[in-house]
Amino acid sequence: MTATIPGLDSAPTTHAKLLTFVRESAELTQPDRIEWVDGSPQEWTRITDLLVANGTFRRLNEQKKPNSFWCASDPADVARVEDRTFICSADPKDAGPTNNWMDPADMKAILTERFRGSMTGRTMYVLPYCMGPLDADEPMLGVEITDSPYVVASMHIMSRCGTRALELFTDERTFVPGLHSVGAPLQPGEQDVPWPCNETKYIVQFPEERAIWSYGSGYGGNALLGKKCHSLRIASVQARDDGWMAEHMLIAKLISPENKKYYIAAAFPSSCGKTNLAMLEPALPGWRLETVGDDIAWIRIGPDGRFYAVNPENGFFGVAPGTDYHTNPNAMRTIDKGNSIFTNVALTDDGDIWWEGMGAEPPAHLTSWKQQDWTPESEEKAAHPNSRYCTPIEQCPTRAAEYDDPQGVPLDAIFFGGRRKDTIPLITEARDWQHGVFMGATLSSETTAAATGQVGVVRRDPMAMLPFIGYNAGDYLAHWIEMGKGADAGKLPKIFYVNWFRRDEDGKFLWPGFGENIRVLKWALERMDGTAAAVDTPIGRVPAPGALDIDGLDVTADDLAKALAVHPQEWRGEIAQIEEWFDKLGDRLPSSLHDELEALKQRLA
Ligand code: GDP
Ligand code: PGA
Ligand code: MN
Ligand code: MN
Repeated sequence: MTATIPGLDSAPTTHAKLLTFVRESAELTQPDRIEWVDGSPQEWTRITDLLVANGTFRRLNEQKKPNSFWCASDPADVARVEDRTFICSADPKDAGPTNNWMDPADMKAILTERFRGSMTGRTMYVLPYCMGPLDADEPMLGVEITDSPYVVASMHIMSRCGTRALELFTDERTFVPGLHSVGAPLQPGEQDVPWPCNETKYIVQFPEERAIWSYGSGYGGNALLGKKCHSLRIASVQARDDGWMAEHMLIAKLISPENKKYYIAAAFPSSCGKTNLAMLEPALPGWRLETVGDDIAWIRIGPDGRFYAVNPENGFFGVAPGTDYHTNPNAMRTIDKGNSIFTNVALTDDGDIWWEGMGAEPPAHLTSWKQQDWTPESEEKAAHPNSRYCTPIEQCPTRAAEYDDPQGVPLDAIFFGGRRKDTIPLITEARDWQHGVFMGATLSSETTAAATGQVGVVRRDPMAMLPFIGYNAGDYLAHWIEMGKGADAGKLPKIFYVNWFRRDEDGKFLWPGFGENIRVLKWALERMDGTAAAVDTPIGRVPAPGALDIDGLDVTADDLAKALAVHPQEWRGEIAQIEEWFDKLGDRLPSSLHDELEALKQRLA
């Protein structure tokens, strides 16, 4: 029966495991045809033309955004679905207590029925990819099988995919298999919709098998399997086993006016400022920043005992609203070069894109992400708060040459950060590695539109990895402590905790943020060089009065003091939440972090 599926017997590989994966997937999902993705520009043109013909894409004005496309998703498929995301380990303790869990065999049984015939009437694309540089000693390979041409086009941007990846599939190498279906089979003669998806969604990782099954959604974080599912959830498990780390971090290179180079990584929860910091245009004269990555870092200990970070991705999947030439000029320059996909932003009448926060004045008329007429009087937003641009890293004017270096870059500092309107100072320096891990372990942030569910609720988000840890969160924190012991103690990255989002009584941001954040980074780097002053507080060290460079900045001394303040009464509330969080993490939480909590309580008393 399956021998009749066109494409099944014309595979451009002899890799046995891959051929079996493709055959079994085809037998289960029953596509009309199979296509092997080669990653070529010709293929991009063919797929994007197809998406235009299907009504999924609208081609943007060539003068404004060459070779670029506007896309509106189903209004019910706009973000990651954390409540539908599962870690199916054999033992529930290996997923808990922060992940949804189901027995792998039970989940396979459910998914097998879901996937049975799910690609009927559609093309099954086989997309081999490599996360990270192609010339790595051990290239990190995956294969996404999908029935979504939108996913194929997006993976062209976000990963090194197609023939150049497939060439690395030698017999002795293995890969992470990912099976994805939008879950919308087409009956003969049935008209397709622009954004097929299913009301029921499953985003499932099998950590022991190192496999991914994703069903029902076309949205980036749910459907581009190389990204969150592979490079964070599955990779975090591989990293635990093999002594490295897979983290939700940007990577950047900073160059001081004296030409001193620093490499930093920063973990902030989704929609809390990673992409902006990764491309920051320094407001301080003489400083430069170069971009290595904006969302994911794979960190290994090098032969010299230092932490080295690699960006596994090849593009940016950035939050659109709030992005403009004032806040993130380098993101604008990147997308202005074209070759990009814009999902759930607004469309202008002259075929360009728009979102809230772009320019001073909104255009007089737009087509909203819901494909309705929009004017500045409209009550609803023109762009969805989690609308995204998908654009190649190659086009980024600040891209660092090191981004493609399989050795990665040696980290001097790690920043944790969240979105908190109170309590958390603009910057705090950790005393040592263990204290820094405690800061990361207790990181908190207000929820954002990047995941479905309520927005603005404070939750603990350890190392900004809550939705992405592929195993037990207590074990994950223990792994962080162990990694600190595995590195050269004198060369460990210094850890800082930042909060760009603290507000005054009227709800106004106390700190201008964006390009001005260089001032905060500068203080941190000067701390490492021993040239900046700090004061001790119960929670860590903050800039001494006058130590933060605010030369030429329009911020009042009062606002700056408020941004940096440590209020014991706010921290008593925080301690109660941390205790609740540590109780939840249970007995796999390393005792050293309990010690840190006790010490903090004593300092606050
Ligand atoms: P990511 O999802 O972590 O990569 O976060 P982004 O960099 O895309 O930023 C998410 C949102 O926060 C966007 O709307 C940004 O405009 C906004 N944002 C980023 N950095 C800052 C900052 O320093 N201050 C303020 N107030 N907003 C920021
Ligand atoms: P973000 O990436 O962290 O840039 O928002 C997408 C996500 O985490 O969902
Ligand atoms: Mn992310
Ligand atoms: Mn981002």
